Amino acid sequence: MEHTICELFAGVGGFRVGFENSSGDWRTVWSNQWEPGKKKQYAFECYRVHFEKYGGIDMFSNMDINQVPADCIPNHSVLVGGFPCQDYSVASTGARGIEGKKGVLWWEINRILKVKRPPFVLLENVDRLLKSPASQRGRDFGIIISCLANLGYSVEWRVINAAEYGFQQRRRRTFILAVHNSTNYYEEIDNISVYDQLQSRGFFSSIFNVEAFSEKSIHSINMMKKFSQLDKLDILMVSDKFSFEFNNAGTYRNGKIYTVNTTPESLIMDCQVVLGDILEKHVDEKYMLSDDEMEKWTYLKGPKAIERTSKEGHKYIFREGGIAFPDYIDRPARTMLTSEGSKNRSTHVVKDFETGKLRILTPVECERINGFPDDWTNTGMTERFRYFCMGNALVVNLITHIAGKLHEIIEFEN
Ligand SMILES: C[S@@+](CC[C@H](N)C(=O)[O-])C[C@H]1O[C@@H](n2cnc3c(N)ncnc32)[C@H](O)[C@@H]1O
Repeated sequence: MEHTICELFAGVGGFRVGFENSSGDWRTVWSNQWEPGKKKQYAFECYRVHFEKYGGIDMFSNMDINQVPADCIPNHSVLVGGFPCQDYSVASTGARGIEGKKGVLWWEINRILKVKRPPFVLLENVDRLLKSPASQRGRDFGIIISCLANLGYSVEWRVINAAEYGFQQRRRRTFILAVHNSTNYYEEIDNISVYDQLQSRGFFSSIFNVEAFSEKSIHSINMMKKFSQLDKLDILMVSDKFSFEFNNAGTYRNGKIYTVNTTPESLIMDCQVVLGDILEKHVDEKYMLSDDEMEKWTYLKGPKAIERTSKEGHKYIFREGGIAFPDYIDRPARTMLTSEGSKNRSTHVVKDFETGKLRILTPVECERINGFPDDWTNTGMTERFRYFCMGNALVVNLITHIAGKLHEIIEFEN
């Protein structure tokens, strides 16, 4: 088996940078990135500038994934991608089967997997995925697991907050690994207990250590018993009826979902990296907050109790607590959002080392918070879009650790 990846929803290449930093053996055979509704494809342009000469880009790479024929995608060992949390429910279309909502990107991943069946799939999503939607907790993740199960994959997931393992950003994301039943690794996992898999010997638990938990705290649901027909999971039934309290770690194997709440144990970085470690010197005056803006910033960051009127017309008090202003530089950065850099409560504000003035982060600092090389997005896009791309991206040095483990697994396949 080759160390090849296919990167969907590639953005500015977070997975690719993370994998290729882990070993020179990794080769990206195909990638796709398309910003819906935008004439200027800044993220793809950034990707192209960095990777064009190394391959993995063709005429389908900057196309809406909905339009890409799956059989035009080269074979690969690992399909990777970060995709949005959307409504994954399906409706019956009579004799034709089932249909998901238009524009829901999970169905594009599913379509590609049906044709390509890569041995491994590594996906990233927000932590909210496990609880969505509010009206039927866990349904959406249940649908994802069921689709993967029907294609012959076992699944392992973990919610990982990068900072809890020593990285520079408090970014909490759900990582999902699907392993095809044709692999040696599938067999290896099948031969250990669920407890061992989730405690220390599984994919995520062997990289990101967790504190000991009791076997009794694992809870499960028998999907094959409750939601199957003719030996396959019935996606329509799952969409209509499935609800489950997913915890932050778990696995699907042999027809059953098992889940448990885990607590991180030890850093994998040498020490905790904090916001102060990545700040630049000699920062341009344009990033400093002006005196005129200070009142607005103080308001945005401060505690509030505001009377509002709901859609139904009743009045209520909206409250939010204050957040650190400026941000603590002896702690990891908060989660970076796509609105970073704009006048917004969630934008980081720091005290400039040299001038003592308050300022927003520079685009380079945002790249560092995600572990990208300096000036990665300085490829012709506007500054606003540089911040936006970093709000969308991954903590790439965390991905490097995941890629290291996958490298080992692929060696074992050979
Ligand atoms: C969460 S971001 C992934 C960011 C990426 N992991 C990175 O490190 O930069 C999702 C990406 O999917 C892209 N996207 C959204 N809809 C798409 C579609 N229909 N086809 C292809 N890409 C799409 C977005 O433009 C965005 O860059």
